[in-house]
Amino acid sequence: MSNITLDMIKNDPVVQQYMQIGNTFIGHIGAIEHSVHHAELTAKLCAEILESLGYSAREAELSSIAGYLHDIGNLVNRYSHGLSGAIIAFQILLGKGMDPEEISTIMGAIGNHEEQAHGNAVNNVAAALILADKSDVHRSRVRKHDLATFTPRDRVNFAVTDSQLLVDAEKRIITMQIQIDTEVCSVMEYFEIFLTKMLMSRRAAEFLGCEFALIINQNRLL
Ligand SMILES: [Fe+2]
Ligand SMILES: [Fe+2]
Repeated sequence: MSNITLDMIKNDPVVQQYMQIGNTFIGHIGAIEHSVHHAELTAKLCAEILESLGYSAREAELSSIAGYLHDIGNLVNRYSHGLSGAIIAFQILLGKGMDPEEISTIMGAIGNHEEQAHGNAVNNVAAALILADKSDVHRSRVRKHDLATFTPRDRVNFAVTDSQLLVDAEKRIITMQIQIDTEVCSVMEYFEIFLTKMLMSRRAAEFLGCEFALIINQNRLL
């Protein structure tokens, strides 16, 4: 076990630079924001999920590092950014002298967080990362201003006014609770567009021995 912490990663100027540049690059193709805010939120949520389910403090720390770095591959290309991000993380963590087993856990998690790249919960950290990342949907992440240029995915993101991930450790239920503005998109439309993400989240919850529940505007859909 190494003693590499999330703070050490956060305070690395090269990491900061890669993340900012990657977010700028994908901004030029109109992708939703993947800022330090998304990285911090994902990192925090990853650790909270594992901590509340009773996993070790070190595993929770590793999940927060994976959560912080997970979108760093946007620097290379939006397409398969999980795979390129895993390799970038490998370089960063190796450079800091992280233990190979810990690096492997984080690489597997980052490389498995995208539904388009056949992401699967291959370890506990990967499961937490899928759940944390997929629950950060909010209208504030949509960078376009003109509704006419919105893709269905932009519209669905824009519809979300609040999203929360609740972990009931006793009942072993992980609930994604989302509030959407039905003037922007209907509950069914949301469900249809985000179905693959939700099914991925359900499998991730199952990997952690939990049931997954999806509640949109007070209606339980999964
Ligand atoms: Fe991502
Ligand atoms: Fe992400």
